[in-house]
Amino acid sequence: MNFINRISGLILSLLILICVILIYLKIDKRMKLKKLSVQRERVFVDYSDSIVVTKFRAPVLPLDDLEEEEIVNDGKQADLEEAAKQRRLLIAQTFSAKPAEQNYRISDNSGLTTENSTHRMTTSVKPCTPKHNVAFLRTHKTGSSTLQAILYRYGELHDLSFALPEKGSNLGSPRLFHPRFIRPTKNKKYNMLVGHARYDKWGFSVAMPRNTQYITIIREPSDQFESLYKYYNWYERFQASLPEFSSNPFFYYKKSEPSDAIESALNPNLFDLGLDKKFLNDRQSISEQIEKLDKDFTLVMVTEYFDESLILLKDLLCWSIDDVTYLAKNVRSMEGRNLNKDTRQSLRMWNAGDVKLYEHFNETFWRKVHLYGKDKLMEEVKTLRERNEELKLSCVEGSASVSQGKTGTRVKRYSLKVSQSQNDTCVLLTLANEALQGRVARRQFGN
Ligand SMILES: *[C@@H]1O[C@H](CO)[C@@H](O)[C@H](O)[C@H]1NC(C)=O
Ligand SMILES: *[C@@H]1O[C@H](CO)[C@@H](O)[C@H](O)[C@H]1NC(C)=O
Ligand SMILES: *[C@@H]1O[C@H](CO)[C@@H](O)[C@H](O)[C@H]1NC(C)=O
Repeated sequence: MNFINRISGLILSLLILICVILIYLKIDKRMKLKKLSVQRERVFVDYSDSIVVTKFRAPVLPLDDLEEEEIVNDGKQADLEEAAKQRRLLIAQTFSAKPAEQNYRISDNSGLTTENSTHRMTTSVKPCTPKHNVAFLRTHKTGSSTLQAILYRYGELHDLSFALPEKGSNLGSPRLFHPRFIRPTKNKKYNMLVGHARYDKWGFSVAMPRNTQYITIIREPSDQFESLYKYYNWYERFQASLPEFSSNPFFYYKKSEPSDAIESALNPNLFDLGLDKKFLNDRQSISEQIEKLDKDFTLVMVTEYFDESLILLKDLLCWSIDDVTYLAKNVRSMEGRNLNKDTRQSLRMWNAGDVKLYEHFNETFWRKVHLYGKDKLMEEVKTLRERNEELKLSCVEGSASVSQGKTGTRVKRYSLKVSQSQNDTCVLLTLANEALQGRVARRQFGN
C-alpha cells in the first residue's frame, strides 16, 4: 500500500514538473516569436520607406504607431484576419530570411542612389498590408478630381474616415490648411484627406496620423496655366486674353490679382503646395520649398504620366490595380494643348518657380519608375487601361459632357447601367465627385 502511494506520488510530481516545463517552453517561444515579429515589422516598414524614398518620417517607427494604424484602419474582422495572416507570413519569412538582407534594408533608408535594384528584385516577395492613411494635396487643373474620385471610392469600399470640409469642397483655401477647417467626427481620427487645401506641414501633421502617405500631382506649367485661365475665366479677372496676359504678365498680375484668390495666377502649383504669396517670385524661398516638399511627400504624381503615376501609387499603398481604375472625368485635362510657342515660352518664364518644381519632381518620378522597373510598370499600365475599358463596358450606360467652371469647361458624366445599380464598384465609379463627397458625409455624419 505504502509503496503504491509513494509511486503514485512520484508520478504525480513528475507530471507536474513536465507540465511546468512545457508551459515555460511555450511562453518562451511565444516571447521569441513576438520579438521577432516586432523586429520584422520594423524592417518591413523601413523597407517600404526606402522604396518611396521619404525622409519625412523616422526610419524606424515606434511600434505604437503601427498599432495605432491597425486600430484606426482595421476595425473589421476580415481585416484583422488579414493582418494576422500577414503577421504569420512575416514570422515565417523571419525564419528563412538571411540576416544580411535585413541589414541591407535597415541601413538603406537613404534613398535611390544606393538602392541595389537587382538585389531588390530578387528578394521582393514583399508582403505588405494595404495602407489606408493618405493625404492627397489637390492641385488645380492637374487631373486631381480623377485621383480624388479614386480615393473616395477606395475609402467608401473600406469604410475609411475622411477629413471633410465644414461645407463645400474647400478646406480653408486660400488660407493655409488648419485642422479647424475639418468638420470633426466623433473621434477626430481620419484616414484620408482629399479636399482642396493649401499645404501646411504643421496643420497636416496635427490632423493626420503619423504614418500618413503624402501625395500630390503636378503638371507641365504652361499647360496647367492655360487650363486655369480658361476654367476660372481669367479673361474677366485680367481683362485680357491669354496671349495678351502672357506678353506682359507682371503688369496684369500686379494690376488685377485679387489678394484672396483661391487659385494663384503666379506659380499656381507652388501656391497650392503652401508657398506664401509674397515669396512666389523669390528664388531662395522657391528652392527651399521644393526641398521641403521633397522630404514631406512620399509620391508626387505627374499629370502627363497619369496612368504610370497610378501604378506607382498602388505600389506605394500596397493596393491592387483594381483599386486605381477610373473613368476619365475631365475631358479637357488630358487634351493636347493648343498654345503657340511664344505664349508657352513666356508662360514658362512667368511661372519659373513651377517650372523648377515640375522639373524636380518629374525627375524624381522617373527615378521611381526605373527603380520599380520600367517594363513591369508599362505592363501594368496596359492592364490598368484594359480594366478601365472593361469597367466602362460593364458599368456604364452612356456618357454626356456637361459644363463646369466659370466658362463652362466640358467634363464627362457617366450614367450607370440599371443592371449594375446594386454593384457598389460600378455605382462609385460613375458618381461625380460632389456626389461621392456627399456619400462619405452621409456615412460619417448621417446627413
Ligand atoms: C546588387 O546585388 C546583387 C545581389 O547581391 C549583386 O550580385 C550585385 O553585384 C549588386 N549590384 C550592385 C550594382 O551593387
Ligand atoms: C520628364 O522626365 C523624363 C525623363 O527624364 C523626360 O524624358 C521627359 O521629357 C520629362 N517630361 C516633361 C514633360 O518634361
Ligand atoms: C461589380 O461589377 C464589376 C464590373 O463588372 C465586377 O468586376 C464585380 O465583380 C461586380 N461586383 C459584384 C459584387 O457583383
